Amino acid sequence: MSDPATTPIPVVILISGRGSNLHAIIEAVEQDGLPIEIRAVISNRPAAGGLQVAAEAGIATDVIDHTEFTGRAAFDHALQARIDACQPELVILAGFMRILTEDFVTHYRGRMLNIHPSLLPEFPGLNTHQRALDAGCRVHGASVHFVTADMDGGPVFLQARVAVRADDTAEQLASRVLEQEHQLYPQAIRLFAEGRLSLGDNDDVLLDASVLEQPLQLTARADTPCS
Ligand code: GRF
Repeated sequence: MSDPATTPIPVVILISGRGSNLHAIIEAVEQDGLPIEIRAVISNRPAAGGLQVAAEAGIATDVIDHTEFTGRAAFDHALQARIDACQPELVILAGFMRILTEDFVTHYRGRMLNIHPSLLPEFPGLNTHQRALDAGCRVHGASVHFVTADMDGGPVFLQARVAVRADDTAEQLASRVLEQEHQLYPQAIRLFAEGRLSLGDNDDVLLDASVLEQPLQLTARADTPCS
């Protein structure tokens, strides 16, 4: 019998842009045995750089261009049909810049993850790095969470912290956070793929069958210590 901890689970990855997180996930599959089988990478933007990243790795790609749909529901409907044709156990949002309808999110409840460049619940939405600087934060970072109807508001289970430097620009900070994202997302996906993680009825995150009271913190290759 195959070991459920190492049997790859089928996944679909949704992107809108350059795909550096996608690249990190592909590397983790190839180099660290992350147990997932990427059945498709789907972008809502034809020009997304991540499509090339996927194609170079021999992964099937597709574009469902949101501008060709009359509304959010019609787009989500088409996207859902395309995803479900792949029969994934997990849907991974990796820089997918669309607000999703409640129906769509409910359909994938407990099996859709997102990565966000802030220490949620701080700074949901856009321009997180500049907002962290403007707020005088000394510590910033990234979070991985289950997706719920509440945008960037679903339960967080893994975070990476990054110290903010006195002379940081938003670009410098973004680049150090992104480096951490590339460690963080494969680790988060691994927890799910190994069957250790699930979403409970009350939106509790269950890790190894126990309620997770606080998000886990990334341990490997951490950034400079945060005070
Ligand atoms: C990342 O910062 C991610 O946290 C956010 O969108 C960005 C995507 O970057 N959701 P990339 O396309 O993975 O390089």
